[in-house]
Amino acid sequence: MSTAILGLQWGDEGKGKLTHLLAKDAEFVVRFNGGPNAGHTVIDRGVKFGTHLIPAGAFYRDTVSILASGMVIDMEVLRQEWEMLSEHLGWRPTLRIAENAHLIFPYHRMLEEIEGTGKHFGTTRRGIAPTYRDKAAKVGVRAGDLLHQDILERRLNLRIEQLKRAWPEHEKVQSLRVQDLAAQQLAWAQPLLGMIGDATSLVAQALQDRRRVLFEGAQGTLLDVDHGNYPYVTSSSTTFAGLGNSIGIANPSVDVRLGVFKAYMTRVGAGPFPAELTGEMGDQMRQMGGEFGVTTGRPRRCGWLDLVALRHAVRVNEVSEFAITKLDVLSGFNELRVCRAYRLDGKEIDRFPLSSEILERCEPVYESFPGWEEAIDQVRDVHDLPTAVHGYIQSIEAAMGVPVRWISVGPEPEATIEVEL
Ligand code: IMP
Repeated sequence: MSTAILGLQWGDEGKGKLTHLLAKDAEFVVRFNGGPNAGHTVIDRGVKFGTHLIPAGAFYRDTVSILASGMVIDMEVLRQEWEMLSEHLGWRPTLRIAENAHLIFPYHRMLEEIEGTGKHFGTTRRGIAPTYRDKAAKVGVRAGDLLHQDILERRLNLRIEQLKRAWPEHEKVQSLRVQDLAAQQLAWAQPLLGMIGDATSLVAQALQDRRRVLFEGAQGTLLDVDHGNYPYVTSSSTTFAGLGNSIGIANPSVDVRLGVFKAYMTRVGAGPFPAELTGEMGDQMRQMGGEFGVTTGRPRRCGWLDLVALRHAVRVNEVSEFAITKLDVLSGFNELRVCRAYRLDGKEIDRFPLSSEILERCEPVYESFPGWEEAIDQVRDVHDLPTAVHGYIQSIEAAMGVPVRWISVGPEPEATIEVEL
């Protein structure tokens, strides 16, 4: 049985916790997009981790963790994470790194600064967009190139020459040296070199043999480079459509498409957010939910659940089951709201606009629900949840036509309620 974990909002939906939980029963865990811009919060044996690159399978001894080709990999970060996890676990996690995954070099991070795109879009400044741009422009360097120093240096040379021509006055760019960049990269990657190879055949075989494969998505649908809210998006395919391409399998047979969304909404970085709460209520959500970025520490913008955006994400991913997370954060609100439509130029619309400029002009049309006072973080059985919680969940299920399978009421793995479907 295979499952794909997909973020349905602007990232930070709590996918890390769900993935860590489900990875316990998986033989393969495949991360299929993004890079160290992701920050998955995981509590393993009481220790809290913010992982950025290593798939959640690494926490389990017999699970193979695969970094598929749709990812961009910063070897320095990967090495640090791998060492840190090895120390915590007492063994060295087995990874398979796709030979055709692209590498982030320090000059990619530098480009985000000197071109001003990091600041303009409020990115994570991890060099994500410049690396995906190099990939599309055919001047990128891939993990497999680390296995052939001559190829590695040839590829680097082409890009560094270009950069020096583009930035003749820039001291840091002019001081880049191909041999140094190659040597630094090889030093970081050294213990991982034997793990670089063909990831596609491994995943294809696992799926064909009906092994237990878990696909781990990073970021969320609204940040998808094609189907998100352009240009305030990340640079990879965050949706189910991107999964097939990333692993190189045309129509992967994935049994469950688990869409994860928070009981409310958050966004980090710039871009429109129709249901945003800017006042005291937004502050309350931020404090109660600990809404500060795992990767950058930035305060997250908070708001009510947006069903227009959720419906779009359900359709794009063909979601078959939901996981609703951080429901405990909504305890204590007298009244809850969900955005059921937008008002654009005096008319109600229920389609999510893909252009940021149009979304900026949309006003939320809310529907209200009674809130609940009780803390629910200790609840472990769905029948013990207050009536108002059931009402909130059922109205979402009815509006989306998708059942809720998992309810998360706290960051610990135990704080998860599985609903019989
Ligand atoms: P980039 O992915 O660093 O290029 O950033 C582009 C946009 O995506 C920015 O608004 C980031 O804050 C956002 N973003 C990227 N990764 C994540 C994530 O894992 N969670 C939430 N937002 C993210």
